[in-house]
Amino acid sequence: VSGAAPTLLTQASVASFLRERQIGPPRAPDAIEPLSGGISNIVLRIAWPEACIVVKQSLPQLRVAEEWTFDRARLLIERDCMATLGTLLPAGSVPDVVFCDEDRYVLGMTCAPPGGEVWQDALLAGRVDVATAGRVGALLRRLHVGAAARDDLRERFASLMPLEQGRLDPYHRTAAARNPDLAAAIEADVARLLENRRTLVLGDFSPKNVIAYPDRVLLLDFEVAHWGDPAFDAAFMLCHLVLKACSRPVDATAYVRAARELWAAYHGDEPALAREADVVDELGCLLLCRLDGRSPAEYLTAPDARERVRAIARTILLTDDLSLSDVLALVETTNEPARSPA
Ligand SMILES: Nc1ncnc2c1ncn2[C@@H]1O[C@H](COP(=O)(O)OP(=O)(O)O)[C@@H](O)[C@H]1O
Ligand SMILES: [Mg+2]
Repeated sequence: VSGAAPTLLTQASVASFLRERQIGPPRAPDAIEPLSGGISNIVLRIAWPEACIVVKQSLPQLRVAEEWTFDRARLLIERDCMATLGTLLPAGSVPDVVFCDEDRYVLGMTCAPPGGEVWQDALLAGRVDVATAGRVGALLRRLHVGAAARDDLRERFASLMPLEQGRLDPYHRTAAARNPDLAAAIEADVARLLENRRTLVLGDFSPKNVIAYPDRVLLLDFEVAHWGDPAFDAAFMLCHLVLKACSRPVDATAYVRAARELWAAYHGDEPALAREADVVDELGCLLLCRLDGRSPAEYLTAPDARERVRAIARTILLTDDLSLSDVLALVETTNEPARSPA
């Protein structure tokens, strides 16, 4: 093995990469398509008439404007998490692992079956399906509750590398440095994330990583998985709904309804694993992080929308004892269309 930099897969090279490993049918694929989305991976979909594989390779350098290092071994965490969720969640809730090349950080998985849509695309088009939001919340509950009892998972996902490098450094600590008056609140939140380690947390539970079907949802993207605070996942998903309410006020009421449904389904009749007060704190932090961290939300560019997000984040971080319902009511009123004169 030479000391050369490990090869990155391309649309041109992936077919021979698979053929050398005897993965997939031994013929040229019909289609090789880059799957858009993230900033940190090459993701390619390779299809034959009778088979379909998605290949994901972690990039050594993330595609963001600012410097951000993230250990490529995060891909092996994703593989382990995908395999774990395959046993923990109902069939069809995650892709199956097909292969993993640990030296080149390449993961092969089954393609999501046809008939679904990336939830983010539906949400940004103003199609806000409350039933999907409920399924997303119920599946997260099942995951958090099911994993919490598993000591083997506590060990397997013990590394805080994904949380530290993937979230705390680029998000929380960066936003804290840029908002001195909020730094104490953000640091307290970080301390809780590092201490309150209760179950398997996905760390990237967002609408981009959910494929919605008419009767179920499928989850993707597990490279930030760690044994940690379940409030993080609930807040991460809610953050995306709040950001959309602020960037598309015309549908703010629908996004808020989806957020309420998600939380109701997550919480269920018994107390949820994630504590509501922690979810609220985390939501305040994450909203600010998507403005001032190293991975700003790409669709949140309009200055007035950014100001609404900032106002909500500041209120959450500077007010004690807000319930999630209070916060969502605030999101709705903040985004109400200005009342026209009578
Ligand atoms: N197994 C799969 N089947 C279908 N689409 C997929 C699959 N894996 C990923 N994708 C698509 O590719 C996008 C990026 O993949 P993802 O694993 O989320 O990588 P990233 O870390 O770059 O966000 C996803 O948002 C989804 O649209
Ligand atoms: Mg993703």
